[in-house]
Amino acid sequence: MKRLTFLPNALIARGIILTAMAAALLSVCNAAPVPIVLTGADRRPAISLDGNWAAIVDPYFSGLFSFHHEEKKNGFFLNRKAQPGDPFPTEYDFSKAPTLKVPADWNTQRESLFFYEGPIWYERDFTYQPKEHTRVFLHVGAANYHSWFWVNGQKVCEHEGGYTSFNCEVTAAIHAGGNFVVAAVDNTRHEDGVPTLETDWWNYGGLTRSVSLIEVPEEFIDQYDVHLSQTNDSVIEGWVHVEGGHAGQRVLVILPELDRMVSFTLDGNSRTTIRIPVADLERWSPETPNLYEVKISTANDSVTDLIGFRTIETRGTEILLNGKPIFLRGISIHAEAPYRTGRANTDKDAETLLGWAKELGCNFVRLAHYPHDESMLRAADSMGLLVWSENPVYWALQFDNPKVLAKAEQQLDEEIGTSRNHAAIILWSMANETPNTEARTRFIETEAGYARTLDPTRLITAALLVRADGQTKIIDDPLGKALDVIGFNEYIGWYEGHPESADTTEWRVEYQKPLIVSEFGSGAKAGLHGEENQRWTEEYQASIYRHQFGMLNRIPQLRGMSPWVLMDFRSPNRPLTSIQDEFNRKGLISDQGQKKQAFFILQKAYKEKTVGKPE
Ligand code: GCU
Repeated sequence: MKRLTFLPNALIARGIILTAMAAALLSVCNAAPVPIVLTGADRRPAISLDGNWAAIVDPYFSGLFSFHHEEKKNGFFLNRKAQPGDPFPTEYDFSKAPTLKVPADWNTQRESLFFYEGPIWYERDFTYQPKEHTRVFLHVGAANYHSWFWVNGQKVCEHEGGYTSFNCEVTAAIHAGGNFVVAAVDNTRHEDGVPTLETDWWNYGGLTRSVSLIEVPEEFIDQYDVHLSQTNDSVIEGWVHVEGGHAGQRVLVILPELDRMVSFTLDGNSRTTIRIPVADLERWSPETPNLYEVKISTANDSVTDLIGFRTIETRGTEILLNGKPIFLRGISIHAEAPYRTGRANTDKDAETLLGWAKELGCNFVRLAHYPHDESMLRAADSMGLLVWSENPVYWALQFDNPKVLAKAEQQLDEEIGTSRNHAAIILWSMANETPNTEARTRFIETEAGYARTLDPTRLITAALLVRADGQTKIIDDPLGKALDVIGFNEYIGWYEGHPESADTTEWRVEYQKPLIVSEFGSGAKAGLHGEENQRWTEEYQASIYRHQFGMLNRIPQLRGMSPWVLMDFRSPNRPLTSIQDEFNRKGLISDQGQKKQAFFILQKAYKEKTVGKPE
């Protein structure tokens, strides 16, 4: 597994441990190459495999495991057709099977799959013409949760994690003419999963983001990082890694709008650091979301990205964007598709959701609780919305299980490796509402340390729980020490007390760090009206917001907020008939786009800057 060669030594050591653990795991599962991370994969020309795939629902996974639960040699991945005279029955046929759309979750495609958790097989035929000196990767935008891939019956990779993209090499398996790809995707929840058994969002299964074939030369640019120097604002810096590259090889970085073209040389790790003095650079900010074309090329490969340049840091309890204090006027968002519901995955979904956030007067969004689609991040870059991006370390994972830590770090690798050049992303969140135990703190401190080595240019945060002492809320979770910015969730007035309870609530914060209230809110059924003290009405939700603003303005180091939540989203924990109907109704907007009263309350507060510290 070569992808770790360009990172600092400590990480190579850690990489080797991870490799050893992954290798041990793979040997058990009939080894398949480990997928790689490709920065800017969606900026490369690709052969799309989206569309209708044949699909076979296989609740007992008999397509992969025998009746003694051994992995089969002749599973559904052979896509075999029954032959006359066969001495054995073939009990599946993709050519006769119904289809499922890709990219999409399966739950909202068929009534019978709405609650389905288990394996489903996907098959798709495609034609291909191999080219000289060319490697081919199967790019998977996301597959929830555990997935296996075969091309022409040959296993090409296996992957765990439902919200990050990965790339499987298929060069050896693909051939001229007709080919077929088979995927098994299993969204069964596991105790040792990341996330684990309990989540307050729907466990949408399937090939939920785009699938395509990406062609690259034998040596190619797999990862790159380009950002504005934190210490010198007329220098762009970063690094480039060339998979299969060799020491002394030239890498050219071109910024046409800044009239810069600079050549660099790879070191023994096929990596080069880059440093480019620039003049007249217009920084990226929510008000001015300037993006610059950046073209990185070697003799045989090139990738062109659109990147904004800004700096982000903390100074005491301040968050500084481009050196100036900023207050993050935000909202939390789940990747639930507006109107049609299901997993959000299109440019249109991103424009609608982020369009509503802009309409609210936001300069910030918390993308919860897992990495969102590249289309969302591209839209945030161009619309000028700062982003909190989160690794799905959610609630009570097996924090004392090293395999679980390895999975969390693998997902960080993929999240940061894929999305590191989005100017919009300022915060990597390590976790949400985890129990205050030593194992948990050790786990997330390690995770945070790993994130810092992957990307030292951004701030590390997490959404913490708070404790109470009478009317005083206390933020002193020991995990706060490992964070640059402390997020905290509170539901005063909803899960405890009444909207007015906020008026008499005081806060004690044990850290001299910037704070973000990453969640507060209230359930409300759009169109349900009544007294302010009547739960589920829009009036109750509006009252919660009004009382929260007063309280939040009394927290001196509050530097941001992302109320829960922009839009109602599906959750298996919300069965209240005719009110929730399997939706979490804390949205300011219903899943059908109806704006609730609280939407306008928050919009007014953001536009008039009456909540939060004026910049
Ligand atoms: C929690 C959690 C969210 C959840 C929300 C709620 O704080 O982080 O995922 O949806 O509360 O209860 O509505």
